Amino acid sequence: MASISLQVPVLFYALISIAFNKSLAMSSGEIVGAFVLPHGGIAFDPSHFNTSNQTARQEAWLIHDAAQAVGEIISSLKPDLILLSTPHGIADLEKFQFYLNPKGRGSADTDNYVGPYRLAVDLDSISSQDLVRELGKLGEHVSGLSAFGPPGGAADPFPLRWGEVIPLSFVRSLETMKVAVISQPSRRYNDSVQMIPELLHLGAVLHDQLLLLQKRIVVLISADLAHTHDKNGPYGYSTAAEPFDQACSLWASTLDEAALVSTAAQYVNKALSCGYTGLVMLHGLMKEASLDNWMPKVYGNYHPSYYGMMVASFLRK
Ligand SMILES: *[C@@H]1O[C@H](CO)[C@@H](O)[C@H](O)[C@H]1NC(C)=O
Ligand SMILES: *[C@@H]1O[C@H](CO)[C@@H](O)[C@H](O)[C@H]1NC(C)=O
Ligand SMILES: *[C@@H]1O[C@H](CO)[C@@H](O)[C@H](O)[C@H]1NC(C)=O
Repeated sequence: MASISLQVPVLFYALISIAFNKSLAMSSGEIVGAFVLPHGGIAFDPSHFNTSNQTARQEAWLIHDAAQAVGEIISSLKPDLILLSTPHGIADLEKFQFYLNPKGRGSADTDNYVGPYRLAVDLDSISSQDLVRELGKLGEHVSGLSAFGPPGGAADPFPLRWGEVIPLSFVRSLETMKVAVISQPSRRYNDSVQMIPELLHLGAVLHDQLLLLQKRIVVLISADLAHTHDKNGPYGYSTAAEPFDQACSLWASTLDEAALVSTAAQYVNKALSCGYTGLVMLHGLMKEASLDNWMPKVYGNYHPSYYGMMVASFLRK
């Protein structure tokens, strides 16, 4: 009798600890860091930046060197998966689109830099399909695109260009990781302010769904800031450009929500920033994990030519 009554609690403890270990294993997904990188040709390779302004040239190199440093941090985190948000991908009018081919490939050609630079990457089409399905069930405006073949099965690579290629070019050992691309919809051009609540919500839901993938994940936002810094630039000059970029810096160095969704939002329609919607989505994502758990850091925020560029990291405490 004595031996049986001893065994019951032991058995009970064993069952509890198996269940507990299983639940730990089930929640082992982790977002190990988030980053903002530019995608301008000047950041990619400042040696092609055609300027006689030495200050601007120095700023281009500062951005480039900061982006290289961030690329090394990303590699040192050894992620399984990089979730990359691009504002210059293949875009739907309405929906955020994930790329569903098993591979992606493309070139960095853009302002001040015309190849040859080609980048090939393994896309995580399985995780991307999971995200499309689960986010869709939760009512988010997302879908997926497969190029030249079925989702997860196309032999051809999904076409990439500077919005994806330049940020990824800074990441060392990219061949050890997979990438999931989320392409911002083109309504962002006119409606980014109206999109703020949706972007915050999408970021939060994305955070939770990423954890369920049970991978080590880095979130990377491909973003440039205001495009109206120079009266001779393609978008002219606006007094909104400088305060917009400063508000983004304030947000990225403090995670002050008002700086992004109130101050920067006031200026974005005249600042013309391709990166804004990605930054707001990232804020929603980080907020879901509690903003206190992130260490924000800005490495540089400059506009050596007509558009602003910022390099920032948000590591976990
Ligand atoms: C560089 O800029 C100068 C002055 O604007 C221009 O004359 C020249 O053609 C440019 N060079 C290249 C390679 O674009
Ligand atoms: C944005 O607004 C401009 C001006 O009204 C319009 O020409 C353009 O088609 C709009 N773009 C999108 C993607 O809705
Ligand atoms: C040179 O570039 C810097 C940084 O972009 C800018 O503030 C300055 O006005 C430029 N100088 C001239 C003469 O254009």
